[in-house]
Amino acid sequence: MRMRNKYRKPTTFCCNAGSICSLSAVVWGLVGCVIMLHLYSLIHHQDGVGGEIQMRLNRHPLTRELEEVEEESFQIPPPRGKWSPHAPRNKPRPRPRPATPLIEEFLDKSSQIRHLFFPDQRTAIDPMKEAGNDSLYFYPGRMWFDTNGKPIQAHGGGILYVERLGMYYWYGENKDGPTYHAHKKGAARVDIIGVSCYSSKDLWTWKNEGIVLMGEETNETHDLYKSNVLERPKVVYNDKTGKYVMWMHIDDANYTKASVGIAISDYPTGPFDYLYSKRPHGFDSRDMTIFKDDNGVAYLIYSSEDNSELHIGTLTEDYLDVSQVMSRILVGQHREAPALFKHQGTYYMITSGCSGWAPNVALVHAADSIMGPWETMGNPCIGGNKILRNTTFFAQSTFVVPLPGLPGSFIFMADRWNVAELRDSRYLWLPLMVWGAADQPLEYNYGFPLWSRVSIYWHRRWKLPDGWSGQ
Ligand code: GAL
Repeated sequence: MRMRNKYRKPTTFCCNAGSICSLSAVVWGLVGCVIMLHLYSLIHHQDGVGGEIQMRLNRHPLTRELEEVEEESFQIPPPRGKWSPHAPRNKPRPRPRPATPLIEEFLDKSSQIRHLFFPDQRTAIDPMKEAGNDSLYFYPGRMWFDTNGKPIQAHGGGILYVERLGMYYWYGENKDGPTYHAHKKGAARVDIIGVSCYSSKDLWTWKNEGIVLMGEETNETHDLYKSNVLERPKVVYNDKTGKYVMWMHIDDANYTKASVGIAISDYPTGPFDYLYSKRPHGFDSRDMTIFKDDNGVAYLIYSSEDNSELHIGTLTEDYLDVSQVMSRILVGQHREAPALFKHQGTYYMITSGCSGWAPNVALVHAADSIMGPWETMGNPCIGGNKILRNTTFFAQSTFVVPLPGLPGSFIFMADRWNVAELRDSRYLWLPLMVWGAADQPLEYNYGFPLWSRVSIYWHRRWKLPDGWSGQ
């Protein structure tokens, strides 16, 4: 008995354990199989990606440079007001302040590290100066001069490429006036001066074409009266009417009008005639952009319902109004500063969070159909350091420029707002790449499409590939 017991117990134990073991073996086996399948498929997918990268590099060997990643580190100064042992004893000790987070330093006009965010004009990009090794190099955040040696004034802007002329036109807010607060709690602002236009063949040397839509000096009832708000102008060309059409955010100083404005011109360099403003589809509309699809259909995308969601709607054929078709997207996600682009049939959009002039983390979204559903993919910012990546490199999206002849390569345009002196806000242009086979979902993706990765690569200094001719 003892013997039997002696052996039975362990046998019984073994037997139970065996069934548990075999059950877990089956479960783990299954899990293993799923993982193996998934890994196989990922590797397979990666091969596809690698293949595509290889193909692209074969076609454009110099795009590799665009994908370089740079790391950055900031030397954060000790908190100001800290008591020094050498300070005279009879003075009251200043209360030590906690170390300010970097965003506060960024917003603080007397920050000791302000030069890191807003380097002075000694380092300006000046295409007319003998640039030597710096010719055609973008330096995100530095001052950028036009061909007259004046800082470019085209904030919240966008680019129109006119193929017929082989010319790029950069439109943006001219903020070359004093920054002030209309109310104690109001956002920092600059009076409306107008929309500037610059032209370039290489995207680096910009000639000032003047103010193509003028602010209104005297008529207080006009939308463009100086104490109102004109932001984020974008221009598209209508092939049917042969007109250049500008859409912009129109508001009053308190941002309660929340409308879009429309202007029209026969020439890319204006002058533009201001037509009217409206609340599209009857909704409030603040940050916005325009996107013209390959088939000539154009869309308005705007933050609405107090910036809690975006609306996207088709424009009428003449681009002078919105049609009835509208779709609510990214509902409840509180996104603004939309910048939309398309690659291999998939639509992508970069947005910012809603924190006024203060920077925040960017997100990229993707959709098979422009009217949605849109899926949020995450933060596209790569390199730099964590704080740079989590603040869109201390900037906010405004536009994404396609680069003809370089499929999958784009320029991400953003504004580094200088809240203390808005006219001195800087431009951040960085390479944006869409990697991999577009929307090739894995067979067992459980219904979730796997979009291509969208990456914005931090560079202190970069340029477009040498062979790239601009068209
Ligand atoms: C931002 C917006 C800018 C401007 C600013 C005013 O959220 O993107 O275009 O409106 O607020 O505070």
